[in-house]
Amino acid sequence: MSLSSLRAAVVGLGVGEKLAESLAAHPDCELVAICDFDEVKLARVAARFPSARSTVQAEAVLADPAIDLVCIASYDDHHFSQTMLALEHGKHVFVEKPFVLRESEAVAVRDALRAQQGPRLSSNLILRESPRFTDLRRRIGAGDLGQIYHLEGDYKYGRLHKLLEGWRGKLEYYSVVHGGGVHIADLLMWLAGDRIVEVHAVGNAIAGEGSGFGNFDNVTSVVRFAGGATGKIGVNFGCVFPHFHSLACFGTRATFMNGTNHAQLYTSRDPERAPMIIDTDYPGTHKGDLLPGFVDAILGRGEPEVSESNVFDSLAVCFAIERSAHGGLPVKVDYIWDQR
Ligand SMILES: NC(=O)c1ccc[n+]([C@@H]2O[C@H](COP(=O)([O-])OP(=O)(O)OC[C@H]3O[C@@H](n4cnc5c(N)ncnc54)[C@H](O)[C@@H]3O)[C@@H](O)[C@H]2O)c1
Repeated sequence: MSLSSLRAAVVGLGVGEKLAESLAAHPDCELVAICDFDEVKLARVAARFPSARSTVQAEAVLADPAIDLVCIASYDDHHFSQTMLALEHGKHVFVEKPFVLRESEAVAVRDALRAQQGPRLSSNLILRESPRFTDLRRRIGAGDLGQIYHLEGDYKYGRLHKLLEGWRGKLEYYSVVHGGGVHIADLLMWLAGDRIVEVHAVGNAIAGEGSGFGNFDNVTSVVRFAGGATGKIGVNFGCVFPHFHSLACFGTRATFMNGTNHAQLYTSRDPERAPMIIDTDYPGTHKGDLLPGFVDAILGRGEPEVSESNVFDSLAVCFAIERSAHGGLPVKVDYIWDQR
């Protein structure tokens, strides 16, 4: 039976607080529960959403039959078990990126989704909501850039302290590629309308040297798309630079370059001809912007912006980059979602 409204919950109230705002604002969604094992944070956020039940026990929310949708915004190493529990209880899941840490976990989530059949799953690949990038995608779709033959994106984190001093660096396993590169992998494939089939990556850990963080904090990968375009994905957590998503998109008719003040669209090779200035908002997003569309999709009103295959495919590229950076060889992307 299709639903006319949803009862939703949020687990983890960092970025999850933004998700809660978005759910509470949806006319056909009721925020019924919030959860954080940090009692101080829980109490602060609970005061903003007095009609939602508050709990420190994630399991109480993930297994509650009165909840239809859970948004999982806990630490990365909790995403897999929490997603599996929610799916086991037939819930729709919106899980923060990276939705899992390992390929074997992605396979298990895929199998659980297929076994359950009903639940939908999406993830917060929020750059798709940035007006700067939706504008670019519209221009690409209209043919303004001609045929796209090369795309480059860099996730410049600009918050090294959060990696080295916060929970990320304390996890048993953390990958900056999974945590940040996934946004760029998704963005490039969404813009190109094509999938990355092969990657070749290198990495280092110079910026965070001596911190005890056990993985690369800087990774760069060249990539090849199925249709022949080339690209580059950079994940730079050490940069002395504010948080920024560099993007350059090269077509046969024009070149787009994102900048910190505005973007530029070059339609000529003549150095005397000024590029067009594109000043659409960047990033210009609220972290809950993908949720209204996901709620609507669950209610049978269209498809979500970020589908299950988008969630799996973007992380599949990251798994390949991580493997290549450590193994030193090119790696073909293994598209887990495609496999039956
Ligand atoms: N999509 C995006 O743009 C974006 C931006 C920021 C963070 N994130 C993701 O969101 C997740 C959380 O990151 P953050 O920056 O909000 O961290 P944060 O430390 O600000 O907040 C996380 C909160 O979750 C709580 N928490 C963690 N595990 C929990 C559990 N098992 N049960 C109950 N509470 C739990 C913590 O106490 C904390 O309050 C991460 O996966 C991160 O990658 C995504």
